[in-house]
Amino acid sequence: MLYVKDLDVQGKKIFLRVDFNVPLDKEQNIKDDTRIKATLPTLNHLLEHGAKVIVASHLGRPKEEFNPEFSTRPVAERLAKLIPQKVLHAPDVVGHEVESKKTQLKESQVLLLENLRFYPGEKGNNLSFAQQLAHDIDYYVNDAFGVCHRSHASIVGIPQYVQKSAAGFLVAKEVEYLSKAILSPKKPYVFILGGAKVSDKIPVIERLLHKTDNILIGGAIAYTFFSAQGFGVGRSLVEEDQKDLALSLLDKAKSKGMNFLLPQDHIAAAAIDPGAKKHIIQEFPIPKDLMALDIGPQTIEKYKDIIKTAKTIFWNGPMGVFEIDQFGKGTEEMAKAVANTEAISIIGGGDSVAAVLKVGVSEKISHISTGGGASLEYIAKETLPGLEALTEK
Ligand code: 3PG
Repeated sequence: MLYVKDLDVQGKKIFLRVDFNVPLDKEQNIKDDTRIKATLPTLNHLLEHGAKVIVASHLGRPKEEFNPEFSTRPVAERLAKLIPQKVLHAPDVVGHEVESKKTQLKESQVLLLENLRFYPGEKGNNLSFAQQLAHDIDYYVNDAFGVCHRSHASIVGIPQYVQKSAAGFLVAKEVEYLSKAILSPKKPYVFILGGAKVSDKIPVIERLLHKTDNILIGGAIAYTFFSAQGFGVGRSLVEEDQKDLALSLLDKAKSKGMNFLLPQDHIAAAAIDPGAKKHIIQEFPIPKDLMALDIGPQTIEKYKDIIKTAKTIFWNGPMGVFEIDQFGKGTEEMAKAVANTEAISIIGGGDSVAAVLKVGVSEKISHISTGGGASLEYIAKETLPGLEALTEK
């Protein structure tokens, strides 16, 4: 694989794919610019070496058409505050106007394109879209670790149409850290998995069964596993079409004799609301009008005991609706427990990262990944489509 420092970029047009998928509030203010800052080493390197840099990212999950709510303009404004150079913004991704801005771009200048996901060709990895993105580009640099698990045009398509493709410093750093964790994990190796969508996690959990002896499950994903076993989960989130897979996963975990733990007790309420009355549920069924929104106190203690013994920990996804304080205890206690170990700890995923920041223990985490889905998939598969695209020609 080539790295950005291997390229002679002086005077060259570089397509720099980044993951500027940052959280925005209703007024489109950026709530956390960690992902923008994380790409500055690559961007500054390119600018200091006289490249003409065309920066591109997705932002959120818009319908595949222009929508000002998902514009990259606020990101351009923030980026302009973080680097000495002026940041030009293109109101589109491809087409005549963008091409003319690309042509006018001078050495050490930055042009940030609009949201790549305004075009269906991005997610569909349409090759003619990839070719348009690559038009007039000399080299492609991927520093978008957080989206390297997606086979999208700007990730796996463009490299086919440029002379050289390379990994940026952030991608290199993430891969170096995560691969160390995979290749020589110190045991016991504990996975903590939470979040809302079990369909995102099941393929990964399946692969994790071969790598670890301990998987601690929290968050809404637990309730598809419970419902699949016939327990009454009230109004908790269940993905009906994932139940068969969930059952077969439970069987596999059992036959391997591993510690695949689901919550023993639950915090439930009638609504996802700070004012909703909170119930501790110790036995199934969860009443019909309630939904589980956090792990309960016994589960917290049990999980903490296991985390204490770990030498390597990987955590992805919150244990509950932690944005609301009364449903946040499980996630916060996990953050503290992970931080209190001597284990190598890796955290990926916006919410789990936000939890360690909220609790103020981020300094004690060995590696905070900028990619949630990407880090999880890398740990499970030991490769990602975006990395493979950098090595194929
Ligand atoms: C992320 O936030 O995990 C990445 O930016 C990928 O976004 P996506 O899940 O919408 O593809």
